[in-house]
Amino acid sequence: MLCLGIEGTAHSIGVGIVEDICGKCKVLSNVIKINRPEKGGIHPRETANHHAMYIADLIKESVNKAQLDFTDIDLISFSKGPGLGPCLRTAATAARALSLSLNKPIIGVNHCVAHLEIGRGTLDDCEDPVLLYTSGANTQVIAFAEGRYRVFGETLDIGIGNCLDKFGRTVGLDFPCGPQIEKLASKGKRYLELPYSIKGMDIAFSGLLTAAEQYYKRNENVEDICYSIQETTFAALTEVTERAMAHTEKEEVLLGGGVASNKRLCDMVKSMAHDREADFFVPSKNLCIDNGAMIAWLGFLMYNSGIRMRIENSFIDQRFRTDMVDVSWRD
Ligand code: ATP
Ligand code: FE2
Repeated sequence: MLCLGIEGTAHSIGVGIVEDICGKCKVLSNVIKINRPEKGGIHPRETANHHAMYIADLIKESVNKAQLDFTDIDLISFSKGPGLGPCLRTAATAARALSLSLNKPIIGVNHCVAHLEIGRGTLDDCEDPVLLYTSGANTQVIAFAEGRYRVFGETLDIGIGNCLDKFGRTVGLDFPCGPQIEKLASKGKRYLELPYSIKGMDIAFSGLLTAAEQYYKRNENVEDICYSIQETTFAALTEVTERAMAHTEKEEVLLGGGVASNKRLCDMVKSMAHDREADFFVPSKNLCIDNGAMIAWLGFLMYNSGIRMRIENSFIDQRFRTDMVDVSWRD
């Protein structure tokens, strides 16, 4: 079965095509276009216009790259939420148009669950992980328990990627700032104290962001500030992930989201996993960031388990929570 997935929750619009090979996911194509605002943060309407401009070409490109014809596609899936309304609507409209013109079924999927399932689908031996999902807008620790993917811990304010991007903007870096902060941090030598806020199983970043910006205003060395931001936020993320693993008694940890490409974050989580004799997994970078292949794969899993969606019910849901999904495709 071949499924084409359209991702459009935030600043990226992506199209991926996947094939099911005996329960494992083979990615046949995965193309993406990222909207990079020249200045300021993400503007929902402008980003949706960007997505509308590129989506038709991306769909054609994904089919060409997969060396398929449109008629080979069996199922269309799209990111139902959570995300920005105008962006979600653009992706969903494209999915509906494709579904109607090809006369193929459509299915809307949860973006956060897709980040977890693409790890299970593409990585050998990754079966029942705790996912540390770290992206721009989202920061969640997710694991399967009693028929649902449950959120064991999450950010109380901004996502970790947003925290990095906001600090980066303050110091004049281009968006996305995470990779440049990682480079600067690798040259940092001195740890500057920053708030470490864990409340129960949840994390907050905005106090740390303000404190980091104050260091910058006081002319502290930017490399040292970046180093200190990474050490503090990544340690908090690792701590919450470890507590979720202990609570759920799971022996696998999976990373997902754009911040998972950060080597220091990977090393910290890997070392925690090693100490617990647990397995560490991270998908390839193009499957960690927001992408169409993960949407396609979750669409396949849901469809294959008997879930159906009528086109008139193919709504988006900006606040579609991870634990609202009834997970009928695994136990
Ligand atoms: P969401 O999944 O919440 O809709 P998004 O569209 O921002 O959010 P991604 O594409 O998964 O999601 O991630 C982008 C984020 O990842 C940006 O905030 C970017 O700064 C961050 N990022 C990318 N590479 C790195 C890196 N090497 N180190 C730290 N952060 C990184
Ligand atoms: Fe994401």
